[in-house]
Amino acid sequence: MLYTDKKYKRHTITSALPYANGPVHIGHLAGVYVPADIYARYLRLCGEEVLFIGGSDEHGVPITIKARKEGVSPQDIVDRYHHIIKQSFEDFGISFDIYSRTSSEVHHQTAAAYFKKLYDAGKFIERTTEQYYDEEAQQFLADRYITGTCPHCGNEKAYGDQCEACGTSLNAMDLIHPKSTLSGSTPVKKNTRHWFLPLNDYEPFLRDWILEQHKNDWRSTVYGQCKSWIDMGLQPRAVTRDLDWGVKLPVADTEGKVLYVWFDAPIGYISFTKQYTEDWEKWWKDKDTELIHFIGKDNIVFHCIIFPCMLKAEGSYILPQNVPANEFLNLENDKISTSRNWAVWLHEYLSDFPQKQDVLRYVLTANAPETKDNDFTWKDFQAKNNNELVAILGNFVNRSVVLTHKYYNGKVPSRGELNEADRLMAEQMAQFPELIGRNIEKFHFREALGELMNLARLGNKYLTDNEPWKLIKTDPARTATVMNLSLQLAANLAILSEPFLPFTAKKMQAMLHTSACAWQQAGGIDLLPADSAIAEAALLFEKIEDAAIEQQMQRLADIKKANESASFMPKAVKPLCSFDDFGKIDIRVGTVEECFKVPKADKLLQFRINDGVKSRTIVSGIAKYYPHPEELVGRQVCFIANFAPKKLKGVESEGMILSAEDSDGRLVLITPGDVVKNGVNIG
Ligand code: 2FM
Ligand code: ZN
Repeated sequence: MLYTDKKYKRHTITSALPYANGPVHIGHLAGVYVPADIYARYLRLCGEEVLFIGGSDEHGVPITIKARKEGVSPQDIVDRYHHIIKQSFEDFGISFDIYSRTSSEVHHQTAAAYFKKLYDAGKFIERTTEQYYDEEAQQFLADRYITGTCPHCGNEKAYGDQCEACGTSLNAMDLIHPKSTLSGSTPVKKNTRHWFLPLNDYEPFLRDWILEQHKNDWRSTVYGQCKSWIDMGLQPRAVTRDLDWGVKLPVADTEGKVLYVWFDAPIGYISFTKQYTEDWEKWWKDKDTELIHFIGKDNIVFHCIIFPCMLKAEGSYILPQNVPANEFLNLENDKISTSRNWAVWLHEYLSDFPQKQDVLRYVLTANAPETKDNDFTWKDFQAKNNNELVAILGNFVNRSVVLTHKYYNGKVPSRGELNEADRLMAEQMAQFPELIGRNIEKFHFREALGELMNLARLGNKYLTDNEPWKLIKTDPARTATVMNLSLQLAANLAILSEPFLPFTAKKMQAMLHTSACAWQQAGGIDLLPADSAIAEAALLFEKIEDAAIEQQMQRLADIKKANESASFMPKAVKPLCSFDDFGKIDIRVGTVEECFKVPKADKLLQFRINDGVKSRTIVSGIAKYYPHPEELVGRQVCFIANFAPKKLKGVESEGMILSAEDSDGRLVLITPGDVVKNGVNIG
């Protein structure tokens, strides 16, 4: 029994298949896997029949590019990452019923048969188009295998599908001076045959199904994206590619062609179900089954438009009931990026914070990018752990269990008659299963988690208001009632937290000697019978110290620095200047005799330089980069000797010391490679 009017016999829950060309990161978790897992766990607790599907997406050009770069086969790449991803999901408690892969035999057969069925039924249109071909490598070139000059901004390293400098999506044919990345040669245009799904024919179906029927129950961000795709006018979409990595076309004379990765990947949801059970059709063809796709916003068009058209074209499948796509999660105010290594990788998190799966699950749900992009910061991670999980949830359960051991030898005390405050608390507590459940059913996971914490807050308030540690001295009977109700509230938390914090829920259940209960059992005050024994208190959460957070921030700072230096581009050369112009500047070498910070000026160092004739004073704005100025004494530097003297913070500076600005903005003093006489000219 659910709280909303969902009435299904079963629920097929899919989660976007991650590409097996890298590990998964917090962006994937927040966008897809954590919400999908909460939904699946919740429905299971409600006694619903659930199939939760995941798996690796192992085809597509980026995988072949990575393999070529590393000099290994695409299969080697996907084997490596499939295992890392699968293991990390398991360690993180993502409760897939099956986690498979698209390189599996069953998947290839299923996807090929799906294509063949539509092909035989005349659902595709065949078109011959011109595409770039590399005559040396003897193959057609996927967009990512072609680089050239962007016609919009002149970037010479634009890809066939996109210019990363100006962000424009491109057509490979638009590139100026195209070059094959396989052989470096200039590709030629050659005809090739492909099959297209005429999405335009499905417009009336999509308008009715999405824009009418799902006007009110799909997220506005998802609905809006679909509407703008449909309103822009849908075009036939190629579902085949010239490539040697993927599902081969089950059609004669199509050597060297495979299914487009976005055609085969969603069929993975179906082929994995076939691997899970022979009775797979009920999960896909029974109209009493609810189909839900959990995805990130970059996958909306594929799951809301293209895949439904594929399902519709086949004819015997159900359509997704909802596609609760999330927006993006940023990391420390910057877009998560695999290529820039700007991410918190799940397998690394699990090794840096073992046993803290639930902390990350909590933070990602509390910050879930459900309606807009959101930001993950390590400081917030620490604050949410210390101020919420430790101080609210952990603290309440710990106090209840510790006091029960102290006063009642670890046995649940019997309660007497309830007073007004007890009844109010019990009434409020009874609302939570529905409050949380309704939010989960409506895919409002953030709000649902907020309510769970409100239940823990209710527990803390109840303890604080009743002060059993004082009451025990004056009114033992009343104390027993307060402690009984506190323990009942803890037992409720042990059930209701399971979808969000499964590891913690297990610990709570072990502590209270309850077993996993049905969701609908929660809400009451008779979960723990009087006189039943509970176990010793075990800490549910530990404070996270500054050092652990600083270590993570340092790691990110190092990555940022490495990225900046990798992407360093020298500035454009200034307009030409004549020899005479240059000759006017008198640059010389001198030795530092004294150096110290200018008082009350953070940025300035005051130098005394031996210029070969006398000592001169020069003030330079490099204090930030030389925290120990005294160490510069004895070093030779280069300076401009004929600048007009200028007062800086009250000190007259007689020239300018030369420094180079590094890619990260750091200033570095320039010193001659060999020791020379002070006062010699540079030129
Ligand atoms: O965007 C992605 O990471 C894709 N690999 C998702 C595929 S979902 C699907 F359809 F299988
Ligand atoms: Zn450009």
